[in-house]
Parts: sequence; structure tokens; C-alpha cells
Amino acid sequence: MSFAVAIDGPAAAGKGTISRAVAAHFGFAHLDTGLLYRAVGACVLEGRDPVEAARMLAPADLERDGLRSPAVAQAASKVAAIADVRAALVEFQRAFATRAEGAVLDGRDIGTVICPDAPAKLFVTASDTVRARRRYRELVEKGIETTFEEVLADMCARDARDRARSSAPLKPAEDAVMLDTSQLGIDEAVAEAIRIIEARR
Ligand code: C5P
Repeated sequence: MSFAVAIDGPAAAGKGTISRAVAAHFGFAHLDTGLLYRAVGACVLEGRDPVEAARMLAPADLERDGLRSPAVAQAASKVAAIADVRAALVEFQRAFATRAEGAVLDGRDIGTVICPDAPAKLFVTASDTVRARRRYRELVEKGIETTFEEVLADMCARDARDRARSSAPLKPAEDAVMLDTSQLGIDEAVAEAIRIIEARR
């Protein structure tokens, strides 16, 4: 029987790392839904129409290079505010959530809009400084030239846009369990997430 895990939260809170580890632990499929919006954002940077790009999106588009760049992240959060873009991506995400082996979806609106009936919902947070430090390290490791201040400003701008939009804003579902990873190492955060999900199986 399918089992969906919804993992939401702001940028660089640890959702991706936790989701991948949780999916591996339970043998569930994993969908990083941010990649859908990043892929649409990348199309817009190439001059395409966002709604048309979202409607035409194919699995191969999620494998494109450059989706993790700061420029694409900003473009993603702008297209993510467009209701027709979000609507075009709903069906694919809901179908993924019903995969027979179980599924983990991470994003901003999984627990509130995509899978409101998911039996396990986590809202992962961390302080702004901790998140910016983590994202800064990731970008530097990838050879992307940036500064800590720039990463912090970009991240806060994106979170503010994600929280303020009228269509599926970033917020915890009423029944989500909050997981603050500011003081946790990766192993501790993953163990805590597994414990929370285990209690709902
Ligand atoms: O998670 P990630 O940082 O890759 O997401 C990029 C952007 O895509 C976010 O800033 C947000 O605007 C958007 N997004 C969204 N809903 C989701 C996942 C991502 O609006 N479920």
C-alpha cells in the first residue's frame, strides 16, 4: 500500500538531505519538487513562457545542468508564484505520491496542497544564519563564486516571496511536526525524521 511522506520548509533547512536519507531508509521513491520549479525557472531564463514551460515539462528536464544555480533558484521562486504554473505541476506530484513502494516528496506546499492527507508531514526549519552557511558551503563546493552575505540575502528574498504568495504559500500544515535542524548534525536530523515517520506508519 502506498504511503506518502510530506517534507516542507524554507530554503536550505535540510529538506533535501533528510528526504533522500528517509527515502533510502524506508525504500520509498523520492521527488524533490523544487526541481520542477527550477526547471521552469531555467526555461524562463531562456525566454520561454512559464505556463507553457510548466505544461510541457518532461522528466528529462529535471536532469538538466545548472538547475542548482542561484540565478535559477530566484527564477524558480518567481515562476512558483504563478497559479497556472503550480496547477500544471499538481497532477505529476500527486501521481508520484501514490507510488506503490511509498513516496517522499519535499517542497513548500506538499503537506498543505499536494498531499493534504499524507499520514506523515514534517516542516523542517533552521535559523537564517545556519541555512545560509550551509547553502554557501554547498555553492562553494560546486565552484560557484559567491559570498555569504549574497547567499543570505538571496535566501531571505526567496523565502519572503514563497511565504507571501497567495497561491500555495510556504507554511506548515496544521498537522505537520516541526523539526528545527539548527543544532542538529545530519545523522541526528535524519534519525529524528525517521522516528517521527515511524510513529505514523
Ligand atoms: O526547494 P528549492 O530551493 O529547490 O525550490 C526552488 C523554489 O521553487 C523555491 O524557492 C520555491 O519558490 C519553489 N517551490 C515551490 N513549491 C514547491 C517546491 C519549490 O514553490 N513544492
